[in-house]
Amino acid sequence: MQSQLVPNLPSIQIATDVCAGLNQPQQKQLPSKYLYDAVGSALFEVICALPEYGLTRAEERILRQHANEIVDQLPRPVVVAELGSGTGRKTRLLLEALSRWQSTWYHPIEISPTALAELRRELRDINSVSVVGFEREYLDGLREAAARRVQGEHLLVLFLGSTLGNFDGDAGAEFLRVLRTILQPGDSLLLGTDLIKPVNVLIPAYDDSLGVTAAFNRNLLARINRELRADFDLSQFEHVALFNKELQSVEMHLRSRTRQTVTIPDSAVSFHFEPQETIWTESSHKYSQEELVRLAHHSGFTPRSQWVEPSWGFAENLWIAA
Ligand SMILES: C[S@@+](CC[C@H](N)C(=O)[O-])C[C@H]1O[C@@H](n2cnc3c(N)ncnc32)[C@H](O)[C@@H]1O
Repeated sequence: MQSQLVPNLPSIQIATDVCAGLNQPQQKQLPSKYLYDAVGSALFEVICALPEYGLTRAEERILRQHANEIVDQLPRPVVVAELGSGTGRKTRLLLEALSRWQSTWYHPIEISPTALAELRRELRDINSVSVVGFEREYLDGLREAAARRVQGEHLLVLFLGSTLGNFDGDAGAEFLRVLRTILQPGDSLLLGTDLIKPVNVLIPAYDDSLGVTAAFNRNLLARINRELRADFDLSQFEHVALFNKELQSVEMHLRSRTRQTVTIPDSAVSFHFEPQETIWTESSHKYSQEELVRLAHHSGFTPRSQWVEPSWGFAENLWIAA
């Protein structure tokens, strides 16, 4: 395997985003992308192994069983770009299936350099794959990956792990619509989506008995302390997972145990918290079959095939850019 990384430029964006989110008048919030620093990426790997979090194992079962069938439906030659690849453990199954047909350029697109470094280790023994990773936000990275393809090559975009569900409300549909504009007709999207399931299964998946998801969530405050010299007292914020029935989403929040003020001296700002007030840190939307079909058409794709894992409730969707 050949491997290269296109690194990111340093950015002051986190300070701006944190201040904007904590200044929201109704509901304080922080962008979920900041959950994934080195500690957060490592904790996410542990979450994927927790008994309560069946999502990753369900998707892995689909890919283990159907990778050849998925790959056989793609036009070739194909270049693969993956949004929020994480460590690429599941992706290996698709890349191995592709290697029956061709040598493959694979472009993981990640904001977490830790995840990208782990991915390079994970995939180092697949000879027929050349990895050029982009330490970028999803769409910036996808534009760069798309610009590298040569005439005649098709693009397969992977968006696994139900990460699309982390976009709030209509933002997921809008994201897919913009994504589609970067593709050419006939390109493909393989989209992993967690399906609607009982609340008594969902809540433990985001509030496990070992407290790993709680640590993942609270690490966001620890990160802000580390990177922006803020003074969040972690013992004064508790992890909460709630089900929003109207939006069919699990929401993670950090709830203030007391009345308190937090300061970010580098930005010369303070934020006041009332007892029980929360910071909304992540949503994980759960999909119905009808919604997935609507979403595909709304964003300019034609649904081609779907593979469902019934015991957990997860769907892998292959859509073609119309
Ligand atoms: C829920 S994890 C999924 C990881 C992997 N795809 C899987 O299925 O297990 C989301 C991944 O997307 C990355 N990520 C989050 N927001 C991002 C953004 N705006 N741009 C690029 N990567 C992002 C995170 O670092 C993380 O590795």
